[in-house]
Amino acid sequence: MNTQMHELLPGFRLRAMREDDLDCVVAIEQSAAVASWTHKAFADSLSGAHDCDVVEQVADGALDGKVVAFRILSRVLDEAHLLNIAVSADFRRRGIALALLNQMEVFCEAKDISMLYLEVRESNHGARELYGNQGFCETCVRKGYYQSAAGAENAVLMMMELAPHK
Ligand SMILES: CC(C)(COP(=O)(O)OP(=O)(O)OC[C@H]1O[C@@H](n2cnc3c(N)ncnc32)[C@H](O)[C@@H]1OP(=O)(O)O)[C@@H](O)C(=O)NCCC(=O)NCCS
Repeated sequence: MNTQMHELLPGFRLRAMREDDLDCVVAIEQSAAVASWTHKAFADSLSGAHDCDVVEQVADGALDGKVVAFRILSRVLDEAHLLNIAVSADFRRRGIALALLNQMEVFCEAKDISMLYLEVRESNHGARELYGNQGFCETCVRKGYYQSAAGAENAVLMMMELAPHK
C-alpha cells in the first residue's frame, strides 16, 4: 500500500509486507477459525499488484518487531477490495483491525477510491460486527462462495462508499 512505516497504535507500527514476513503471515492466517489462503496465495499477492501490509509490535527504539496482523487490498481504478485481514489470536480485541480499517479508508480516499468492497463468511459474526461498526453495509449474499472440505459456506458482500479527495 506504499504506507510509510508509521505508528498505527501506541506500540504497533504499520509497514509494507516483505517476503521474509510470509511465514508469520501464514501462521496468523492459520490461527483464524477457517484459514483459506495458502503460502503461495500470499506470495502471489506480494509479488503481484496488491497492497500488502503488516502490523508489527515494536519495543521502544527497536528496528524490527513481531508481526501481529496483516491486510491485503486490491485497487482497480476507483474501486478497492479488501481481500484479507487478520490479527494474531493473542492480539485480538485491542483495536488493531479497527485501526487498520481506519487507515485503509484514509489511504483509499487519498488515492481517489470511491468504493470499498469485501466478502465475509456468513458465520463470521465478529468480523461482520467490525465491518458494520466501520460503516460497511451488507449488500447481498453469495451462495456457496467459500468451498472447503467442511462444505460450502455463503459469503456476505459488504461495501462502503468513500469521499475521495477529487
Ligand atoms: C476479525 C478480526 C480481524 C478482528 O480483529 P481485532 O483486532 O480483534 O478487532 P478489533 O479489536 O479492532 O475490534 C473492533 C470491534 O469490532 C468488533 N469485533 C471484533 N472482533 C469481534 C468478535 N470476535 N466478536 C464480536 N465483535 C467483534 C467489536 O465491536 C470490536 O470492538 P470492542 O472490542 O470494543 O467490542 C480478528 O478477529 C481476526 O483476525 N479473525 C480471524 C480472521 C478473520 O476472520 N478475518 C476477517 C476475514 S473477512
